[in-house]
Amino acid sequence: MSEFSEAEQEKIKLGHQLNTRTNTMLPENVGNNLSCTSCHAGAGRGENLNLIGVTKKYPQYKKREGRDVTLKERINGCFIRSMNGKEIDSDGEEMEAFISYYEYLSKNIESKDQYAFMTEKHKGDNIPIPDPDQGEQDFKRYNCISCHGSSGPTAAFRGPALWGKDSFNDGAGMSRFSNMQYYIKNYMPKGRGGTLTEQEASNIAAYILLQDRPKFTGVNKFPNGDKPDDYINEKTREALKKKYMKWSDFDRVQDE
Ligand code: HEC
Ligand code: HEC
Repeated sequence: MSEFSEAEQEKIKLGHQLNTRTNTMLPENVGNNLSCTSCHAGAGRGENLNLIGVTKKYPQYKKREGRDVTLKERINGCFIRSMNGKEIDSDGEEMEAFISYYEYLSKNIESKDQYAFMTEKHKGDNIPIPDPDQGEQDFKRYNCISCHGSSGPTAAFRGPALWGKDSFNDGAGMSRFSNMQYYIKNYMPKGRGGTLTEQEASNIAAYILLQDRPKFTGVNKFPNGDKPDDYINEKTREALKKKYMKWSDFDRVQDE
């Protein structure tokens, strides 16, 4: 860190803490039990949803807003959806610390071409049609429970809540079936990522996303009509359970 001034180093440290202890440090802005590191493993330095290079990518066009968004706006996107909370002040000390920390993580990355984020890596999937009942069995068989608790939550275990009030809301990127399937397939069970088959990851993703979770109460924009079709919210959840809708209706899931 020596190329950074002492003041800058302090901000980087604060940024790191804010990524790992988000819910305890910013209780006003976090509406669940998660921290950024609950999904962006190792505070953005791990494999899962790695953020090394992220500062080279913004401003960038986002479908949700239908225009270029800044990194600060993108961070707040995770606050209101993944953290089921409120935006932090975009000119405040905390936001500066988040940015300094991500600058530090990205210091050896020259251009955005060196950075492939999860959602870019898996464009155009062909996910096997899930069997959520089998997913419940697979969830038990792979001992996801040992870290994530028997009903998805909890603070008492090492892993983050996968559903219920302490989890992300249904407007979050992780509420998309294709994102959840990819994350499980590649990164879980933690330390043994890549051992599940595509089918098993699909089954488990469906089982998890059919459980209740907080509702996103903000406005879902997508002004250009290009909203991905696989967000599982209360409405789609009920339709899938009552079989008004089939999993194969989603673009990224195989046809029957
Ligand atoms: C529940 C899981 C989850 C949590 C918790 C979470 N994120 Fe995210 N984050 C995601 C997903 C999934 C995406 C990608 C969404 C998409 O592109 O559809 C993402 C994307 C991002 C991006 C953009 C990355 C890129 O390459 O465009 C940033 C920056 C980010 N998150 C920051 C944060 C911060 C800061 C926090 C904590 C305040 C946080 N995230 C908490 C799941 C999470
Ligand atoms: C050894 C403990 C452990 C096991 C076993 C494990 N996980 Fe995780 N899981 C974690 C930890 C810790 C994280 C936080 C991110 C990280 O550090 O990788 C996580 C993150 C996640 C996330 C993203 C966070 C969120 O709130 O959505 C999902 C989804 C997930 N795990 C699903 C599973 C599934 C499904 C299984 C079983 C196939 C499983 N995990 C097994 C420890 C574990």
